[in-house]
Amino acid sequence: MPAITLTTLQSLKQKGEKITMLTCYDATFAHACNEAGVEVLLVGDSLGMVLQGHDSTLPVTIEEMAYHTACVKRGNTDALILADLPFMANATLEQTMTNSARLMQAGAHMIKVEGALWLAESIRLLAERGVPVCAHMGLTPQAVNILGGYKVQGRNENQARQMRADAISLEQAGAAMLLLECVPSELAAEITQAVKIPVIGIGAGTDTDGQVLVLHDMLGLSISGRVPKFVKNFMQDQNSIQSALKAYVNEVKAATFPGIEHGFSA
Ligand code: KIV
Repeated sequence: MPAITLTTLQSLKQKGEKITMLTCYDATFAHACNEAGVEVLLVGDSLGMVLQGHDSTLPVTIEEMAYHTACVKRGNTDALILADLPFMANATLEQTMTNSARLMQAGAHMIKVEGALWLAESIRLLAERGVPVCAHMGLTPQAVNILGGYKVQGRNENQARQMRADAISLEQAGAAMLLLECVPSELAAEITQAVKIPVIGIGAGTDTDGQVLVLHDMLGLSISGRVPKFVKNFMQDQNSIQSALKAYVNEVKAATFPGIEHGFSA
């Protein structure tokens, strides 16, 4: 077991201490993130964009996710490893079980799935079988073609009410963590208060239980040159990758990152 477990994350929420998470796709960065004290390493399907150069996460396969999860596991000692089920890897309940098993056997300690209430049954089945699940809500990039782009979600009252209700239902179904992406700050704060499980934000304001960023974004690396509003370049004031990672951990723990300017209004 790593030093950081689900129990650690739950007690951080109870104590009001912020949780630090970064995406990570290989052994060397896993080690560097451990040294900096990052508590959760997310093997995100964002690797399709930042490593593979695709314009979305849709082309990423379960084989690629298992490969990168195994790479991260080899460099990791302390952090909890969270791995994404990629696009359509959870199209059926049977696929969800088989593909989650692949990621857990590759080294993940928790699985992340994108969606909303429709995830409840698979979350319940996974939790019963010993797989902790993080439900990724709000902007779910695998649904970019339904959403019509990478847009803030939950801006109108109906959507906000639905998201609050779904978050509670997914907790009741057995979700161990929620991740809110591009959600108005006020709504993210309400959801964080409404559930007992840790809530991690990206573009979700200052009041979630923890924060995540894509590693390449926070190191100031971008292919497109388009930098989302919620990103901070931690290399700007640092002279090494290691100190940028440490600055990220320090700022999340001190609640100085994100600032109000990194969030969205309703
Ligand atoms: O795949 C990923 O990196 C993610 C983050 C954007 C949260 O899901």
